[in-house]
Amino acid sequence: MKDIRILTGKPIIPPPDTVTALFAGTHTALDVSGITELYDRLLPKLKLHTLPKAALCIQERKNILHSDHYNPDALLLCAMLTIGSSIQRLIDRYGADGDPLAASLLNAMADSCLFAWEEQLHSAMLTLCREKNCGILRRLELPSDLPMHTQKAVFEALDADRTLGLSLTEGYMLSPEKSMSLIFELDELAPKKVPRHDCGKCRHPRCGFHSSVNLQIEQIRTDGTHTSPRTISCKKGSRLFDVLQEHRIPVSADCGGAGTCGKCGVTVRSGSVGVSPEDKLIFSEAELNQGMRLACSIRLEDDLSVLIPQAEETAFQILKGRTSYVPLAEQARYAPGSYGIAIDIGTTTIAFALLDLHTGICAASHTAINSCRAFGTDVIRRIQASNEGKKDQLQKTIQKDLLRGIDALLNQCPAQTIRLQKIVIAANTVMLHLLRGYSCEGFCRYPFSPVTLEREVLSFTEAFGASFDAGTPDVILLPGISAFVGADITAGLSTLSTRARNGSCLFLDLGTNGELALFDNHRLFTASTAAGPVFEGGNIRWGTGSIPGAIANVSIGEEGPSVCTVADMPPIGICGTGVIETVSELLSAEIIDKTGKLKEAYFEKGYPLANTMSGKTILFTQRDIREVQMAKAAIRAGIEILLLTAGISCDKIEQVFLAGGFGYYLNIPKAASVGILPKKLVSKTTAAGNTSLTGALFYLAKQTDAVLSELAADAVDVPLAADKHFQELYLSHMEFEKIT
Ligand code: FES
Repeated sequence: MKDIRILTGKPIIPPPDTVTALFAGTHTALDVSGITELYDRLLPKLKLHTLPKAALCIQERKNILHSDHYNPDALLLCAMLTIGSSIQRLIDRYGADGDPLAASLLNAMADSCLFAWEEQLHSAMLTLCREKNCGILRRLELPSDLPMHTQKAVFEALDADRTLGLSLTEGYMLSPEKSMSLIFELDELAPKKVPRHDCGKCRHPRCGFHSSVNLQIEQIRTDGTHTSPRTISCKKGSRLFDVLQEHRIPVSADCGGAGTCGKCGVTVRSGSVGVSPEDKLIFSEAELNQGMRLACSIRLEDDLSVLIPQAEETAFQILKGRTSYVPLAEQARYAPGSYGIAIDIGTTTIAFALLDLHTGICAASHTAINSCRAFGTDVIRRIQASNEGKKDQLQKTIQKDLLRGIDALLNQCPAQTIRLQKIVIAANTVMLHLLRGYSCEGFCRYPFSPVTLEREVLSFTEAFGASFDAGTPDVILLPGISAFVGADITAGLSTLSTRARNGSCLFLDLGTNGELALFDNHRLFTASTAAGPVFEGGNIRWGTGSIPGAIANVSIGEEGPSVCTVADMPPIGICGTGVIETVSELLSAEIIDKTGKLKEAYFEKGYPLANTMSGKTILFTQRDIREVQMAKAAIRAGIEILLLTAGISCDKIEQVFLAGGFGYYLNIPKAASVGILPKKLVSKTTAAGNTSLTGALFYLAKQTDAVLSELAADAVDVPLAADKHFQELYLSHMEFEKIT
C-alpha cells in the first residue's frame, strides 16, 4: 500500500510582482506598463478556471532512479502538482481569438499560480520529511540533474493518472501543461526547508525568475593538490560562508561567520568580488591583490570560482584517553561480552572509550572532531546559532558525530559479540543542550537558566535519533553544576582522589571556556571565566588547532626565534601552547614590556616567528598579545576570587590539576611566567589529561552516581561577572609580571 498524500487547494491569487517578472521576460517594457488593468480583468476568470491539486510521497531512490547506484536506500521526496486543464483551454482560446497579450498575461498568471501552489505545499512536504526524520538536501531538476524519463517513475509512484487526472506524453511531458513534478533528495542532517527552484538549471532563457549564480569550488588537500572542481548553483546574494556550511564543505571559522577571526579565507580565482572592511583588516595589500577574501564577507552576486584551503578540522591531533584499565566495582561488573562506552563531548573534539564491563579493560578508543565547530569555535556562537533557528541542525550534527564515533569504536572491538549495556556522556552544559535539542535561550542572560542540569537516562533512540542493534543500552548524561560549569567538570572532579577532594586543591580546565574549581576543607567552589579560545589557538591572527605544522614550542635567542611544530611539519600557524610559549619568550627577551606593548620595530606588523612553505611570515601581533592578556587576566582573577570566597590564600593549595589537552601539553613554568598561574603553584601543578572522559569511564566502572550527585549538589558556583572584586583583579592581572 503506497503512502500517497493528496492535497487540494483553494483558488490562488497570483502575486502581481511574480506575474510581472514572468511576463516581463517575454515582453517589452511598453507591454508591461499596461498590464495592471488587464490583470484585474483576467483575475476572476483565472480563479474560475484553476483547481490546485497535488500528490506527495517519499520513495527510496532505487524505486525512482532504477539504474542509479548511488546509495539506493536514500530517500527522495516526490511531488506532482497541477492547477488543472481548464486554464490551458482558456489561454488557448484567447490566443485563437486574436488576443495574444491577454493569452500571454493569463499564461504568466497561471504559471505564477502554479509556483504559488508549490510554495503552499512546503509545509506538507516538511511534515512528510519530519515523519522520516529527514531534511531536504537538494532539489533535483529535470532534465539538468536527472533524465526526463525519471518523470515516468515519479508519475507511477504517485499514481498521478488516478490521483491527479494527469497524463504523460511520449516525451515524458505532463499534461495538462500547467502541472509540474518535484524531486528532492533527503538526508538526516539536511536543513528543514524546501530549496527553491534553481534558476541556473532552467532552460527558459528569458524567464524573469533567473536569480541564481554558479559557484565553482576547489579544495586544497593536505598534500597541496587540489580536488576536482565542483559547481554549486546558489541563490544570488547568498553569503559564500553559508553556502559552504549548507553543503558541508569544511571551512575554518572561529567566529562562526562574524568576520572577526580571519580564519575563513578563500582565494577568488575568477569572478569579481569587492573588498570588504573586514577583508582589509585581515589581509595585506598583496594578499588582497592575489584574490584573498573572507568567505563570510562574500556575497554571491555573479558566477564565482574559489579555492578553499584545508580546514583545520580535518587534521586535528587529539589527546586520547590515557586510561587502559579501570577497576570495576562489584555492582558494576557484568557478564563476559558486556561493554560500556564513555564519551567526552568537548567543544572542539570528542573522545570515546570502550570499557569491557567484565574485566575493566579499555578495549578501544576513538577521537573525532566536533563538527559543531562549523557553527563557531566557542559555545557562545553555538548558542547564538541555536537561538537563530539552527537548533535542529546542531542537534543532528552532534548526533551524527556520536553515531559515527560509536560505530568506529565498536568496529575496533575484538569481541565477536557485543552487548552494550551503557553509554555515559560527559560534556559542558551547552553541548548537552545541543545534543538534546533543548532551547539555548536560557544561556543568554544572567541569571542563566539552562533547561536542566540533572542527570538524564535515555534510550539510544531518544539520545541519538537512531536505532541500535547490539543491545538496548541506557544512555546516561552526567549532571552539571551550572550553565557554564558542566558535566565535563563534574566528571573531572569525580576522578580526583578523596584525599585531594578533602584537602585544598585547584582544578583548572583551560579550554575554550576557563572552568575553575577549588576544594577546601570539604567545600567546593566553582566558576567559569570567559577566557576565550586563545588557549586553543582561537582569536589569534595565525592561530590554529593542534594540527601538524602548528608551532607548539618557541624559544627566542640572540639569533632570533626558533620553533618546533606538531609532527615536525613545516609551520602553518600557532597552536595554544605555542601562543603561551611565544608570549613567555617575548617577555623574557624584553621584546614586550610589562604592559604587553611590543617593541616599536614589531608594533605595527607583529613579531615574525617563522615562514610557511609558501613564504608567508607567521607573525605574532600586538592584538594577539592583548588576547592572551585578557585570557590570562580572566583566569587569574577567577582563581583569586575562588580563593577569596573560600577565605584561604594560595599557600594553602596543596595541588593544582590542569585538565584537558591544552593543560597536557603546556609548559607549566612558561604558563606561570605569562601569569596564567601564580608562580608559587608551579611545583604543585600536574597535567591531568582528559579528566572528563576518565570521569565518564569511572561512572561506568564504579557507578559514581553518589559522588557526582554530591559534587553537583554541594558545589557553590561563584558568578564572577557579578563579583565586585572581579573587575579590579582582572585589570590588575592584565599586566605581565617581571620574568625572573
Ligand atoms: S568565519 Fe569569517 S572571519 Fe571568522
